[in-house]
Amino acid sequence: MSWFRLRFQVSQSHSDAAEALLETLDAVSITLTDAASAPILEPDPGTTPVWEQCRVEALFALPADFEYIHRQIRGADLVLQDLQADFLEDSDWVNHWRQYAVEFCFADRLWIAPKDAKLPDTAAASLVLRLDPGMAFGSGSHPTTRLCLEWLAGESLQGQRVLDFGCGSGVLAIAAALLGAARVVAVDHDPQALLATRENAAYNGVAQSVLAVGSAGLLQDEAPFDLIVANILAAPLIELAEQLYSSLKPGGRLVLSGLLLEQAQSVAAAYPQLVFAQPQVEADQQGANWVRLVGRRPAGDQQTGPDTDGPGT
Ligand SMILES: C[S@@+](CC[C@H](N)C(=O)[O-])C[C@H]1O[C@@H](n2cnc3c(N)ncnc32)[C@H](O)[C@@H]1O
Repeated sequence: MSWFRLRFQVSQSHSDAAEALLETLDAVSITLTDAASAPILEPDPGTTPVWEQCRVEALFALPADFEYIHRQIRGADLVLQDLQADFLEDSDWVNHWRQYAVEFCFADRLWIAPKDAKLPDTAAASLVLRLDPGMAFGSGSHPTTRLCLEWLAGESLQGQRVLDFGCGSGVLAIAAALLGAARVVAVDHDPQALLATRENAAYNGVAQSVLAVGSAGLLQDEAPFDLIVANILAAPLIELAEQLYSSLKPGGRLVLSGLLLEQAQSVAAAYPQLVFAQPQVEADQQGANWVRLVGRRPAGDQQTGPDTDGPGT
């Protein structure tokens, strides 16, 4: 199959209207990225991105009336910049995704690679997690994911109960299972992410230990966890603080990612009971500084949460 691709930049206040118009024109895929620092984030269901300027990329399956589509976009009541149109063959499409899906090795023992990638002979003795990004975030190429994978690969997770909050493709949940976790609960409010996680877990042979669930309510049955990894954005990490904290065992660890350096202090402040190690920072190609925070719940802390209404520990 071949594709017609439209790319343009639009202010955040016009991104909803642009997306709605692309949908009426039968776009099969619409991707919004931050025009400033370009993380590959699909917007959460029912929400709009918080970036001031969005880069929008839409694909239309050919045959499509691409001249009509182009005219509709140009003539729409939207302030667009840098409108570009081109065509992609299937092979280009695969290559296009592959720019976000390359091989990485973490802590010399965990490889993340696209399904069809050939790995060096040295990878034979390592754990290998293979996936295609599909529509859910998490090819392993974004600094926020890499920061989590680097930390996970350096730990012993044997027999642990792990929560991956905001699982996307399931990359962190599956990595935890491959690294020895006994049970991994993967939560996401995006049904596409849950599908991708289940498929990817099965493909990597860890479907038995990974449970993908859409409702955070189910956590009450599965908590407490030895380890919680949450690679979402700063605002939900703050909003979810009480729930994540109360789902953690005393002595358990919490790994937070998806936040920028300037947000680290306010995110850490939302978890006053945790003792945080020095933040780890990784810059992306656009110069944004992404941070990983790792905190530990004190072993003697038997409280169930700030308001003591969480599950018992
Ligand atoms: C940045 S992606 C991370 C995906 C993957 N864990 C990784 O590290 O690559 C964040 C994911 O969190 C999900 N998410 C964001 N807020 C959420 C919430 N309040 N409840 C459940 N899932 C959420 C999004 O749907 C998205 O799949």
